[in-house]
Amino acid sequence: MKSLIIYYSNYKGNTEKIAQLFGKEINSELINIKDVNNVDIKDYNLIGFGSGVYKESMSPKLFRLAEKLDLRDKNVFVFSTSGVGIKFYNKKLIKFLESKGAINKGSFACKGSFVAQEFTNNKLFGIIFTIIGILSRGHPNDKDLKKAKKFIEKVLNLL
Ligand SMILES: Cc1cc2nc3c(=O)[nH]c(=O)nc-3n(C[C@H](O)[C@H](O)[C@H](O)COP(=O)(O)O)c2cc1C
Repeated sequence: MKSLIIYYSNYKGNTEKIAQLFGKEINSELINIKDVNNVDIKDYNLIGFGSGVYKESMSPKLFRLAEKLDLRDKNVFVFSTSGVGIKFYNKKLIKFLESKGAINKGSFACKGSFVAQEFTNNKLFGIIFTIIGILSRGHPNDKDLKKAKKFIEKVLNLL
């Protein structure tokens, strides 16, 4: 089984940490698409798509890249890191991949640290983001990595 992990991690490398753990566990190749616009997925039968969440969305660059891929009958999984760490953010990408014929095998999310003051001046959002930022400190942590390990084992069992 050949697997590939395509991810976008630009802020603090939080998503990259998760991508690297997956890569180690399932022996997959990793591509950070920060500086890449196309990927050849022909040889892979499991593809992970991951990204940080920026302004309520996984990276538009990941969507643009997925758009170009022939995903018919490809097994995929989706992961994200975000301040709040919820799987909700993965839904849009999963739907999109499925609309292109991919078979979704799982969704993973965990918190990724951020510093609110680095990206908002808005007072109300400032308070909310400050709290979320404090709660996200140190993530992904060892517990997140353990959960990620369990997740990827489950994905493998589904193949
Ligand atoms: C510009 C910007 C916008 C963000 N917007 C959100 C958001 O809407 N919701 C959220 O939960 N986290 C948000 N975050 C926090 C990131 O999702 C979190 O730090 C993530 O782990 C970043 O991943 P990366 O280090 O792999 O790039 C934002 C971070 C940045 C820098």
